Amino acid sequence: MIDLAEARSRMGREAVVLPDPVPAHPLLDGKPEIGRGEYSIVIDKGDGERVYKIVSSPADYFLYTADDRPAGEHFPQVYADHGIIGRAVSGYPFHLIEMERLYPLPDNSPAAELATRLIEVYWSACQQWSQLGMDMGRIALYHMTVDPLGVGDSLQQALKALSDFIEEYHVLPDILNANNLMMRKDGTLVFSDPVFIA
Ligand SMILES: Nc1ncnc2c1ncn2[C@@H]1O[C@H](COP(=O)(O)OP(=O)(O)O)[C@@H](O)[C@H]1O
Ligand SMILES: [Mg+2]
Repeated sequence: MIDLAEARSRMGREAVVLPDPVPAHPLLDGKPEIGRGEYSIVIDKGDGERVYKIVSSPADYFLYTADDRPAGEHFPQVYADHGIIGRAVSGYPFHLIEMERLYPLPDNSPAAELATRLIEVYWSACQQWSQLGMDMGRIALYHMTVDPLGVGDSLQQALKALSDFIEEYHVLPDILNANNLMMRKDGTLVFSDPVFIA
C-alpha cells in the first residue's frame, strides 16, 4: 500500500481540519457532530438514514446540488439544500445539505479493497503526469476513464461521470484520501467527497 500521508503532502494536500464552530441553526440544535474535514462538518440527523453536511467548499456545493451533478449508485444521495447558514473563517459561505448517511470503509472489506485499488491506480497515474503540476490529478483521472481498470462497469461509469464533472466545473479530484471514499450500509463504495477547489 502507498503511504497516503506522504503522497498527499507531495500533492500539497496535507490533512487539515476546519476550525469553525458549528453554525447555529434550528435543524442542527442539539445534534452530535460525527465528522469533520478541511471544508465540511457532518452532523448526525438521528434517524439512522441521513446526515446534515455543512459545506464551505464551492466544489462540494456544486457536486451536491448541480442539476448535472454525477449520479448513480457510487455517488451520495442528496435530499435537500437548506440554504446558507453562516460563513466560514475561510470566507466561504456555509451551505446546509441533507444527504444520506455513509460509513467508513471497514478494513479488508470488498469496498476497502476496491478503494485501495482505485487510489493506487490514481496515484501511479499522478506520478506519470507529475510534470503537469496542478493539472496532474485531472489528467490522471481522465486516463483512468480511457483505460478501463477492470473494476466493473458501474464504477468505471462513475469515474467517467466524476471526470466529466471535474472538467465542466473546473474543480480537481480529491480521491487520494481514504476518508473521501465511504460506503453505504449495503457495502456499495461511494465517492463521498471526491473534489476540491485549488
Ligand atoms: N454522508 C456522510 N455520512 C457520515 N459521515 C460522513 C459523511 N460524509 C462525510 N462524513 C465524515 O465526515 C468527514 C469529513 O467529510 P468530508 O466529506 O471528507 O469533508 P471535507 O470536505 O471537509 O473533506 C469524513 O472524513 C467522514 O468521516
Ligand atoms: Mg474530505
